[in-house]
Amino acid sequence: MRLSELLRNYQDRDSKIILAHLLGVKPSQLYLLEDRELSDSEFKRFMDMIEERGRGTPTAYLIGEWECMGRSFELRRGILVPRPETEILIEVLLGILPHSKALRGYEIGLGSGCISINLLLERKKLEMWGSDINPLALELSVKNAKRYRVDERLHVLSGRDFEPVKGQKFDFVVSNPPYIPEIMWDNLPKEVKAEGKEALIGGEKGYEFYERVSRELREHLSDEGVVAFEIGHDQGEVVKSLLEKEGFEVNIYRDYNGQDRVIVGWKY
Ligand SMILES: C[S@@+](CC[C@H](N)C(=O)[O-])C[C@H]1O[C@@H](n2cnc3c(N)ncnc32)[C@H](O)[C@@H]1O
Repeated sequence: MRLSELLRNYQDRDSKIILAHLLGVKPSQLYLLEDRELSDSEFKRFMDMIEERGRGTPTAYLIGEWECMGRSFELRRGILVPRPETEILIEVLLGILPHSKALRGYEIGLGSGCISINLLLERKKLEMWGSDINPLALELSVKNAKRYRVDERLHVLSGRDFEPVKGQKFDFVVSNPPYIPEIMWDNLPKEVKAEGKEALIGGEKGYEFYERVSRELREHLSDEGVVAFEIGHDQGEVVKSLLEKEGFEVNIYRDYNGQDRVIVGWKY
């Protein structure tokens, strides 16, 4: 079958991403191949993947990678698929971190490593420590860091919250933690559930991570240190008051839908 014919029937974004992956090009380059005939095996692989997606497997797991800030990160089932909202967290932090200073940062919950690796690529004097409770996330973070040649500046550690960096201080702490309340799990779409409960569910209230971690922040941040968290759209006020209680000056940033999405706290 000719590619142009197939594209007429599969016009959605994910079908194009799958096709581009199979043909080894970027989705934006598919139009260059419109006259190309697909072999029977290419056509079958495409149809198999479309079916698998229909059964609830996220496209990111089918193709084994996903983009964050225009860079591709290897992914596997059970690891959070990078979201556009997380790019806001990265951008906000980049707006704060100077190029000229040698900085130390700590990320809680690396997942694919997309936050730390993007920061390291944009700030050459930065050194990051990052942790996760999921061994697969640690493995993928190392792989992705090697792919972008920042592995010497990313120290990947196993453990929860601040446990792996006891006694250490950082210039900033960043996290996109699990923040969905437990009660919402049953109603999440199948493809979201495939990302795993420990990546998504924050506890009964959803904001338990921020409650725990905010209590330990001051001792792990240098003077004038910064914390940046992604938050749920309805968690701005609660996380703001948690950080203010610990002596932080706080700013909240909104996402493309005008909802609270990122919170930054300055230690003073
Ligand atoms: C929402 S995902 C974020 C992944 C990645 N940073 C991103 O933004 O795409 C949260 C990650 O934190 C890990 N995690 C959950 N609770 C944690 C904790 N208390 N300490 C360290 N990692 C944790 C999960 O395994 C998961 O990989």
